[in-house]
Amino acid sequence: MCGIVGYVGAREKRGILLEGLKELEYRGYDSAGFAVLTGERGSEQMQSFKATGRLKNLADKTKDFAFNGFGLGIAHTRWATHGKPTEINAHPHTGEFSYVVHNGIIENYKELKDELQALGHTFLSQTDTEVIVHLFEQHFSQCNDPRSAWERTAKRLKGAYATLLITKAAPDRIFYAKHGAPLIIAGKGTESALGSGRESKAHESLESAQGAERPQIEIYFASSDAPLIGLVDMVVYLEDGAVGDSSDFATLSPKVPLSHSKSFAQKDGFRYFMEKEIYEQEQVLLETMLGRVKEDAIVLDEIDPALFDGISEISICACGTSYHAGMVGKYLLERMAGVRTNVVLASEFRYAKPILLKDELFVVISQSGETADTLEALKLAKSQGLRTLAICNVDNSSIVREADAVLLTRAGIEKGVASTKAFATQVMLLWILATFLGVERGVLGERERERERANMIAAIAATKVSQNLHERIKRLSKRYLHGHGFFFIGRDVFYPLALEGALKLKEISYLHAEGYASGEMKHGPIALVDANLFTIALMPKYLLHEKIASNVEELSARDATICAIAQEEFALADDWIAISQAGSYMEEFFAMMVALQLLSLEIAVRLGNDVDMPRNLAKSVTVE
Ligand code: AGP
Repeated sequence: MCGIVGYVGAREKRGILLEGLKELEYRGYDSAGFAVLTGERGSEQMQSFKATGRLKNLADKTKDFAFNGFGLGIAHTRWATHGKPTEINAHPHTGEFSYVVHNGIIENYKELKDELQALGHTFLSQTDTEVIVHLFEQHFSQCNDPRSAWERTAKRLKGAYATLLITKAAPDRIFYAKHGAPLIIAGKGTESALGSGRESKAHESLESAQGAERPQIEIYFASSDAPLIGLVDMVVYLEDGAVGDSSDFATLSPKVPLSHSKSFAQKDGFRYFMEKEIYEQEQVLLETMLGRVKEDAIVLDEIDPALFDGISEISICACGTSYHAGMVGKYLLERMAGVRTNVVLASEFRYAKPILLKDELFVVISQSGETADTLEALKLAKSQGLRTLAICNVDNSSIVREADAVLLTRAGIEKGVASTKAFATQVMLLWILATFLGVERGVLGERERERERANMIAAIAATKVSQNLHERIKRLSKRYLHGHGFFFIGRDVFYPLALEGALKLKEISYLHAEGYASGEMKHGPIALVDANLFTIALMPKYLLHEKIASNVEELSARDATICAIAQEEFALADDWIAISQAGSYMEEFFAMMVALQLLSLEIAVRLGNDVDMPRNLAKSVTVE
């Protein structure tokens, strides 16, 4: 979704801002822009640039510009919420002497806009964001103090926001405010200038450096850590309610190390991040297991065991792919741990007046840890006194910080908008959790625990992409580009996998696809069946094979075109994607998952689509 980058310092600003935005590209956007304020005190120059479409358009438009010397820059990628993705609606938005960028939604923008228009402010865009800059200038005209004007501005904003503002009224600092959307500040420079919780003020060094001497320190802002990797070592994840300016950095706490390595974020010779992430699954799944699944025990020592004391049931709440992982979790938790489990969509949960039980464990699942619906559902459950557990891929994300306990999936940075390795690690972690609780609750004995461990190891090996499989799917994909739609069908854990297969295909191929419980086809959807309806049938050997086989037969009798994904060939299927020989249904699950991911990828590639940045989608959905 939208992305923010900010910079205070002497380095060339266009390059830094564009590079930073590039790191956020994967999150999805439809326009971009930046504003800079440079020059000596008293002769500051402010300029802004915007372009619709890809970042390259902004880079081309600004190729003749360079902004050296001490100054400020703020930049933004916009995913349209209020107003179309036009240049006028792109950020930064401006008033008379300031620029603002913003992620999130200002819920009371209409009221503020009416008020400001009545005071003579002219608005150019259809966005909610533009009110921030006018509100600031209005307050500044009254108090003539930029810091106080900014604090008063933030007080008036309702909704979710991470926002940066630069103004000629304070040309040495960037103003920030954060509530409900992530924002990070980081510094680089001499120890004394940056401070480490001492009373030194970074802006003093900045101000003294306004003249002949260039400042020794740089301050960066970003809406996620990707743009900061390799630039800074220590960061501050700002808390909700944080309002201030870049000169506060020295006194902010806690400063924490930035943990990711840049190499995780490169394509390493693959055509797409999604492809690389499919191939990485074997490696990251091993990380997920590491230290948790031991030869003689399942150990979750990240969690206080009291979290599980006396729980009567579990509710899992998530969106999209994470919701599908949650559905797999329900089958596993009920079967292996004997604990009743509900799975709910976060966007539905929030407004449904859910009945929550005090002895219920509330589990949220999120790759990004920033999904607004999931975060709000978590807050709601917490406010009702429930114990909460987050299964998340991003340490220090809002969801991680909010939950009582956390299990990190350890998938590494996932850049493809279509989630692959994050899903794999979520399912693995739920499987580990189900085994752990199964043992704790006496449902699983030692033999069963050992069996699950062996199955997990085999399942991870089954995610290794063989060249045969990939080539087969590449060739096969050309037969599945037309038709009037896809049905992905499966039973039990293969039903959420079918939902996930259909979601993957929709996201990147833009073809219509539905996931269905195979036993439900005869209750309606079978009416759609003809030779141009493609059915992708998940046919495990070790779980309800006969049942799914008869469902597929019913479709075949009505001339559906069927592609079976299975260990063994099924005579009535038109095509067969053979998965490697497996010894358990969960091993088959992980092998089929890879086949489905590759099938979506190759269909989308043949259709000429941008696999990593599909239209209209955002990696991290920070609006409800
Ligand atoms: C997955 O391919 C999707 N892009 C999307 O459904 C995603 O899973 C959903 O938005 C939830 O995101 P989260 O896991 O970061 O909370």
